[in-house]
Amino acid sequence: MNEPHLRPEHNRARRRGTIVGVDASLELHGRQVVLRTTRRDDRDALVAIRSTDEVRRWWRGDDLAAEFDDDLGDEEVHRFTILDLTHRTVGLVQYAEEVDSQYRHASVDIYIDPHVHRQGHATDALRTIVEYLFDVRGHHRLTIDPAADNEAAIACYSRIGFEPVGVMRSYQLQDDGYWADGLLMELLESDRPTH
Ligand SMILES: CC(C)(COP(=O)(O)OP(=O)(O)OC[C@H]1O[C@@H](n2cnc3c(N)ncnc32)[C@H](O)[C@@H]1OP(=O)(O)O)[C@@H](O)C(=O)NCCC(=O)NCCS
Repeated sequence: MNEPHLRPEHNRARRRGTIVGVDASLELHGRQVVLRTTRRDDRDALVAIRSTDEVRRWWRGDDLAAEFDDDLGDEEVHRFTILDLTHRTVGLVQYAEEVDSQYRHASVDIYIDPHVHRQGHATDALRTIVEYLFDVRGHHRLTIDPAADNEAAIACYSRIGFEPVGVMRSYQLQDDGYWADGLLMELLESDRPTH
């Protein structure tokens, strides 16, 4: 996996195996995307991507602009705008941490602009955030929970190394009141090819 661009304090923290606070503003460099902490002025571009049928099918919401504003104030979910190498916004990846030390892990989620699907952006963004969560945030276990019928997402996450744990029945409420199944997937640091 490629190495995210880390600030010196993160490299020090990684060597010491300690956990540092999350920076208010971060940039992580992959091979073909840059992850930059989401800002207020990302709203139009990200709402436009979330409004597409392909993304909305899996990332539901009513007033997406209002939701974007609310999300910016949520300190428990860390959002990164995904930029391609021309600085165009192509999606968002986010993570949240379970802070109870007995169960410490992080969960991840992502969407990519359908206009640039199948170009490797999700793979690179996920590899970059996975490196950051293992090496900088000190996690040993990551999870992701696509809808059980989201074949594209499951194929993409499998390629990163996430393994299916099991189906979570009646996991996510749909607009029509139906509870759809989810698939819990996990990636352990010890499963990384370098270990
Ligand atoms: C799932 C998603 C993030 C993948 O983004 P992407 O940038 O197109 O993914 P990549 O180009 O990195 O694809 C990596 C691999 O995943 C698999 N994959 C991706 N899209 C696929 C599809 N539509 N059908 C089957 N496999 C697919 C393929 O193995 C692909 O490799 P390949 O193109 O060399 O065959 C994107 O489809 C998306 O944003 N979907 C809508 C929102 C969503 O479902 N988010 C996830 C919620 S849990």
